[in-house]
Amino acid sequence: MSSTSISLSQIGISSSPRSMIILLLITIIVYSIRPAEASVCRTSCGKVPISYPFGIDDGCGSPYYRHLLVCSQSGNLELRTPSGRYPVRTISYGSDPHILLTDPFMWNCQDGNKFRPTRPFSLDTSTHLSLSSLNEYLFFNCSESHVIIEPKPIFCERNPERCDSSCDSSAYLCRHMPDCGSTVLFRGGSSDDDFASCCSYYPKATESLRLMLRYCTSYTSVYWRNTGETQPYDQVPEYGVRVDFETPVTTNCLRCQDMNKGGGTCGFDIHSQDFLCLWTASAASVAGVLGIGAGVWYLKKVRAKAPVTCGVQTNDNRLF
Ligand SMILES: *[C@@H]1O[C@H](CO)[C@@H](O)[C@H](O)[C@H]1NC(C)=O
Repeated sequence: MSSTSISLSQIGISSSPRSMIILLLITIIVYSIRPAEASVCRTSCGKVPISYPFGIDDGCGSPYYRHLLVCSQSGNLELRTPSGRYPVRTISYGSDPHILLTDPFMWNCQDGNKFRPTRPFSLDTSTHLSLSSLNEYLFFNCSESHVIIEPKPIFCERNPERCDSSCDSSAYLCRHMPDCGSTVLFRGGSSDDDFASCCSYYPKATESLRLMLRYCTSYTSVYWRNTGETQPYDQVPEYGVRVDFETPVTTNCLRCQDMNKGGGTCGFDIHSQDFLCLWTASAASVAGVLGIGAGVWYLKKVRAKAPVTCGVQTNDNRLF
């Protein structure tokens, strides 16, 4: 206690018992608020890691992706698009940034040729998300009077952008539906009583999925997952929709994330959408071990400048 009162008188604060108690109370309040600041941006939802440019708490990540991801109470992450909310299986942040979605409304093996009503997947083109060219869409039981269905050369499977936009009845995936075992469910060309037709289509935009579904009974999306093995085993087909994203890089954000300066989290002001550097758990715990002396100094700083509001701090009033 005596060393505390010495330091208090040194920095010019009265050490009367009353002001000491008030100081102590304020210090306790300040420290009980700070752990809450540390959890402002959750870093995962269920098993899916959440980091820049995404956020599941408003004001976290890049404003480009604001309100797009939702984490349910039960820890299920979903992506919001104009056609609905889709469960997110994984998010890859590395050199090939993408999100893998599942669509419970799409056809799956269990459905066989009992087609359930489906809905076309769509993406808002004003966001920085795009449909990956690694997706391949299989359409079932299409009306041949509306959709051009024809076998395409093998060449088109790996270079769909260099082939026309007809629906390919000779597609490899129609003959080898992933995970469906050996049951042959589909055949190319027209439907008959036993087999529904299947063809593969690469849409130029999500809008064309909607058009196709007007003339086909159902569809599913398969993406080619890179395995890192050598060809021809470098890509394996899996059900799902792959959505690519861009990571906006700004010097503000790089400076904020710099571990040497405490490692902040990039976020934004929810009103102006201006960049903000947010506290992280490690920055708060560093503050914790510096003890009451630092707490008093912190109080002086906070009084001198504007107090911290809404658990959000800018670089301007960061301490460490
Ligand atoms: C295939 O589509 C036709 C309409 O074009 C429809 O009458 C038929 O029921 C569909 N078949 C299946 C198995 O859903």
